[in-house]
Amino acid sequence: MTTSPPALVDLTPDDLPRIRDLVETVWFSVVPGKTLQHLDDEIDLRHARGVPRPGGPLPGEASGAAPLLGLYSAFDLGLMVPAAGGGLTRVPMDGLTMVSVHPDARRQGVLRRMMTDHLHRVHERGESSLAGLHASEPAIYGRFGYGHASADAKLTVGRGTTLRAPEALSRQADEIRTHVTVLDTQEALATVHRAHLTCAEVTLGAVTRPASMEQSWFAFRDHPKARASKEPSRVMFARRGEELTGYAVFRRESRWDDAQPAGEVGVDELAAVDHASLLALARRLVDMDLTSRTVFWSRPTDDPLAWWAGGPRSAQMRVFDALWLRLVDVPRALRERGYAPGAPLDLVVQVDDKVCPWNAGRWRVQVDGDGSAQVGPSDAEPDLVTPVAALGAAYLGGRTLLAQVPTLGVEERAPGAVAALSRAMRADREPVPAIGF
Ligand SMILES: CC(C)(COP(=O)(O)OP(=O)(O)OC[C@H]1O[C@@H](n2cnc3c(N)ncnc32)[C@H](O)[C@@H]1OP(=O)(O)O)[C@@H](O)C(=O)NCCC(=O)NCCS
Repeated sequence: MTTSPPALVDLTPDDLPRIRDLVETVWFSVVPGKTLQHLDDEIDLRHARGVPRPGGPLPGEASGAAPLLGLYSAFDLGLMVPAAGGGLTRVPMDGLTMVSVHPDARRQGVLRRMMTDHLHRVHERGESSLAGLHASEPAIYGRFGYGHASADAKLTVGRGTTLRAPEALSRQADEIRTHVTVLDTQEALATVHRAHLTCAEVTLGAVTRPASMEQSWFAFRDHPKARASKEPSRVMFARRGEELTGYAVFRRESRWDDAQPAGEVGVDELAAVDHASLLALARRLVDMDLTSRTVFWSRPTDDPLAWWAGGPRSAQMRVFDALWLRLVDVPRALRERGYAPGAPLDLVVQVDDKVCPWNAGRWRVQVDGDGSAQVGPSDAEPDLVTPVAALGAAYLGGRTLLAQVPTLGVEERAPGAVAALSRAMRADREPVPAIGF
């Protein structure tokens, strides 16, 4: 006999102790010095839901609120996607996070219950047509309709590497001023937030933080007892005159090998409004005293920085999956982004979606010459059939729909239909990976 997992409940500030217990049990990572107030900053309780364990305390447990068997939360984020008529537009994205299932309850359907609950609630709230996440393991989320939409390249560049750029760009970079400051002041956090939003405006795939978390974004929180020989995070700003044109959040780890300085610079976030500012920031970051190398995390796979450093081999590029994207409202999501201009389309797309049944069915996608789309229900025979995950994978324009034919089973019913929609969704640049959330 199979029993269904217990129901989900909203979580409140009173639940913070049992949220902490579950998170520490599941992730077995205890951050010294982290308080319940810190945890409160890291979780948006408006979107947090949990599965309390039924029954009373078990042997060895104190009485009190039942422990949680599972929980998830989400942030109200933004995502930069291709716009009609060229350029980019920001659409709301629900960023799923903190997905945790107690080891006593694993593989009993708790995750499935939570994922269904989450997607249905996002749909009911209607604030966002998209949900996104970072996966702890890549095999988990495809079954829930998420597609792998952007890649994350890690670059490792030796200290003093000459970044070779075209001369004109080099001269422009010489005009960019940079300065370094600590990150934990209100002014610095507010300036980072401003720079983060400004740079995102011109950056395909950029995920933006909510204004409400300008001062408390957990990734910037310093826990002195947990960072060992690393310094607190610092920020390097780039300016052209008075204009803020980029920033890098980084920290150095102090290390000496046989009396030689061997420290490492870890760059967690790097964004710029133009190539000159990116080059100016990168040049400073690869030449910091008492270090031997700089590790740039979360770069796009077509990052010019890799090529300035000599190419992917020289920059030791390693690629991982970044944003997993899910269309929660298929017609709205397909309308919210733009398509390649100059190639009008009129196709019927049949979508398979077992987790969000309101998406399943046939949708007529009509793209105008300017790249904007009308999407509505249709009774006509489909030109192509696709699992919803393939649309998520192709949504940012980095991974093509055509490439999902052999991987996710996109099926062509009318000759050329998959290639036509694939080209229409393709972007000119690779999307950047999402910031951590
Ligand atoms: C990953 C985790 C959330 C899975 O929770 P769970 O309650 O055991 O999952 P479910 O029983 O609901 O499984 C749902 C499906 O996902 C599959 N699945 C679950 N975890 C998986 C994994 N790590 N790899 C591949 N498949 C997985 C199950 O086999 C099941 O498959 P089915 O649809 O064919 O039946 C849980 O093991 C956990 O909390 N792990 C540690 C934290 C973590 O990785 N969280 C994810 C953060 S992004």
